[in-house]
Amino acid sequence: LTFDRRQFLASGVALATLGPGGASASASGVLRAGVSDLQLLPEDYGPTQIWGFDGRAPGPEIRVAQGTRVQRQLVNDLPDATSVHWHGIRIDNAMDGVVGLTQEAVAPGSRFDYDFVVPDAGTYWYHAHNRSFEQVARGLHGALIVEEAAPLDIDHEEVLILDDWLIDPETAQIAPNFGAMHDLSHGGRLGNYITTNGRYNLSKEVKRHERLRLRLINAANARIFQLSIEGLEGWVIAQDGMPLSQPRPIEDTFLLAPAQRLDLIVDVTADAGEAAHLVQIDRNGAFSQVAFEVTGDGSRARRPMPSALPPNPHATPELANATKIALVMEGGAMGGMSGAMMDGRMSPMQDLVQKGQFWAFNGAVGDMKGPPLAKLSRGETVRLKLSNSTAFPHAIHLHGQHFLEVELNGGLGDLRDTTLLDSDETREIVFVADNPGKWLLHCHMLSHAVSGMTTWIDVA
Ligand code: C2O
Ligand code: CU
Repeated sequence: LTFDRRQFLASGVALATLGPGGASASASGVLRAGVSDLQLLPEDYGPTQIWGFDGRAPGPEIRVAQGTRVQRQLVNDLPDATSVHWHGIRIDNAMDGVVGLTQEAVAPGSRFDYDFVVPDAGTYWYHAHNRSFEQVARGLHGALIVEEAAPLDIDHEEVLILDDWLIDPETAQIAPNFGAMHDLSHGGRLGNYITTNGRYNLSKEVKRHERLRLRLINAANARIFQLSIEGLEGWVIAQDGMPLSQPRPIEDTFLLAPAQRLDLIVDVTADAGEAAHLVQIDRNGAFSQVAFEVTGDGSRARRPMPSALPPNPHATPELANATKIALVMEGGAMGGMSGAMMDGRMSPMQDLVQKGQFWAFNGAVGDMKGPPLAKLSRGETVRLKLSNSTAFPHAIHLHGQHFLEVELNGGLGDLRDTTLLDSDETREIVFVADNPGKWLLHCHMLSHAVSGMTTWIDVA
């Protein structure tokens, strides 16, 4: 592996000067969505105008104890209507923040009071949910951390929000082509500038044998981060906020799809004077996503494997009586919508393309205005079979409840709220529809969500 300092568009690099995102530990307060200028790029570029919460991107960290109430008044100082979705929270439906399904858009100059309880501990995040493909890309997102009752035996905790930005290097501004047909119909809007917590060169000081908890959040519109660790050894302890029944050793590279989270426990094994890294790998090579500078030896020896986190409360699925639902994804470039169009279920391709609609769920362009994928009664167990018949990967997210991924051997895997399906992959997920309301089910590649990969379920 090489650890080239990331060169942004071949320029010389200086230290970025974005201030640290401060934590906002209080249970209530204001969350102001607005336009601001940030030194996002290396300093020889000048500031970038972003849309952020409380003037920064990512926005302020919201950190609360499990089972407590979160109250935030969204104040919209943007030139566009917006909302806040609390991703991964088993929330009261009216607080889910989905414009067009659970609430009206909060107009410029208006306010909206969010007030909900967080039943599950874990790593969550919040983001705008109106024109998300634009608003999230402009910076409207932040971390929502729900702490377990008992503290872990760790020396540092780092919330690491991974993002990529599509920047025009001439102007240092966010490229404004949010609905670009190519992005809609291909892999989504991929950035050319990768950051962690808004910095391209985030680094932290640690000591050898210290134990860190890393809370990784992928806030990018479309990028699937491929990651590994170097000079660190450890375990995955939670996915999408939900604890694994057993910590899983990190042996190789691992993926973090848009909207997914991973909680890692890692021990610093690099020697003093060296650097350990969270490594990001793409076709251009391996890069230091976050550097951990080892300043000396810690006071303790290496610790044994951590125990599993306490599980969050969760209903047990009744597999024998499960309702079976299928969701087939079609469309996109190089896939065509031929299957769905041939039997007349869809209008001709030109019509759809003109409207920027490139993807289908079960043979029709999906949205939240049409009928739900399923009407469910409260407490019903659902087996949802997801089939990706397109040439691109998709990260499918269900609002309002977590689901279990069914493993290849038929057993039930771990809980998640966003599952990544590669091209031609099929996966069953199982959930108990125990949260009443209208819940969105969509691809979290946000350009896909707006161009056909959106549907919803109705739980009554
Ligand atoms: Cu994180 Cu519907 O979204
Ligand atoms: Cu997708």
